[in-house]
Amino acid sequence: MPQPTAILQSIQPYVFTTLIHMKRAVEAEGHAVLDLSLGSPDQPMPDALVEAVAEAARDRSAHGYPRMFGEPAFHEAFASYMSRRFGVTLEVPAEVTPTAGAKEAVAHLVSAYCEPGDIMFIADVAYPVYERAVSASGAELVQLPVLGQNDYWPDLEAIPVDQARRAKFLLLNFPNNPTGAVTTRDRWVEAVAFCRRHDIILISDIAYSELVHRGAPAPSVFEVEGARDVAIEIHSGSKNFSMAGLRLGVVCGRADVIAALNSYRTLVGYGCPTVVQRAGTFAFAHAEELSAPIRAGYQARFAAAVAGFAEAGVTVTPPPAGMYLWIPVPEGVTDWDVTNHLLDEERIVITPGSGFGPGGAPYIRISMVATPEVLRDACRRIAGPWAAALG
Ligand SMILES: Cc1ncc(COP(=O)(O)O)c(C=O)c1O
Repeated sequence: MPQPTAILQSIQPYVFTTLIHMKRAVEAEGHAVLDLSLGSPDQPMPDALVEAVAEAARDRSAHGYPRMFGEPAFHEAFASYMSRRFGVTLEVPAEVTPTAGAKEAVAHLVSAYCEPGDIMFIADVAYPVYERAVSASGAELVQLPVLGQNDYWPDLEAIPVDQARRAKFLLLNFPNNPTGAVTTRDRWVEAVAFCRRHDIILISDIAYSELVHRGAPAPSVFEVEGARDVAIEIHSGSKNFSMAGLRLGVVCGRADVIAALNSYRTLVGYGCPTVVQRAGTFAFAHAEELSAPIRAGYQARFAAAVAGFAEAGVTVTPPPAGMYLWIPVPEGVTDWDVTNHLLDEERIVITPGSGFGPGGAPYIRISMVATPEVLRDACRRIAGPWAAALG
């Protein structure tokens, strides 16, 4: 029988696929399971966005193949968002392209640039899709250690020069999944300088840009002078506008990288559907109004989760950004011990931290994707192993 490629066969199962199989097995025994693993937003897409989709769907001009590299109105709305929100001027169309989600954008960028012999740097811990995209390309993944005390920013000066010379990409994600860390403009200055020095393409994944709960708003890498010569940035509608099901991503910045990305994309698909681009045009034109209630919804969810833990006598601190609680497991047990225990005993699915890289093994991630009432009750029950460890 013909077999898939050796590379495809060698790729480890996606952590969320493993968790779905485990969940289905428990459901097949007749139990209801609460899934707090995947970061699929439970808050609905705003009504005004639903209306924008409906209006676009009724327009016959949206029914043919999409404009793959973006409709002019989309370019303008996104560029205007970047200018309002970050004070950044982008040239359109050369520096902006819509994609069918940020995940697709990462995979296609890696496919366009990476082959065996190349290196891509990511943080250890990171969104698992990065690692999988690199594995599929045959390139080498280097996971840079990150620590909470440095706000999960890697030590770029510790990277050996021979590795840096072979690198195509440095991919950093702030606000961060899974830790909820935010970063500063000064740190982006450091990354831009490092990438310029070693001729590396810097990728900023800013999928959670509007979900900062404390402190200053998240900066764009392009707030750094000269970043457009070095960097690209990936935006997403999924979390900021609760439109994960529509699949809207945007890649912006370095024009030659966008051209290469688009050249690759002509091989594999038709890009972002017109209806979604029209919804995205509306979303970026009204980003501030649309994201504010969604952000408030996550803040209420975090407050409820923290209260649930507190009811069990366990103190957890909500992160400055994002939609996940990232908490250390009690001493003497592993992330998978806790994951299995919670599924077997409480019928709750969470994500073991090792799914985000080896550095995540002492942690679990809980997604804030249920109502505050449900999360409060769930977190009181999730706290069991921690409460037991406290004695
Ligand atoms: C850091 C990060 N980037 C990108 C994505 C995916 O975004 P999209 O839904 O636009 O593919 C996620 C989804 O969880 C994420 O956590």
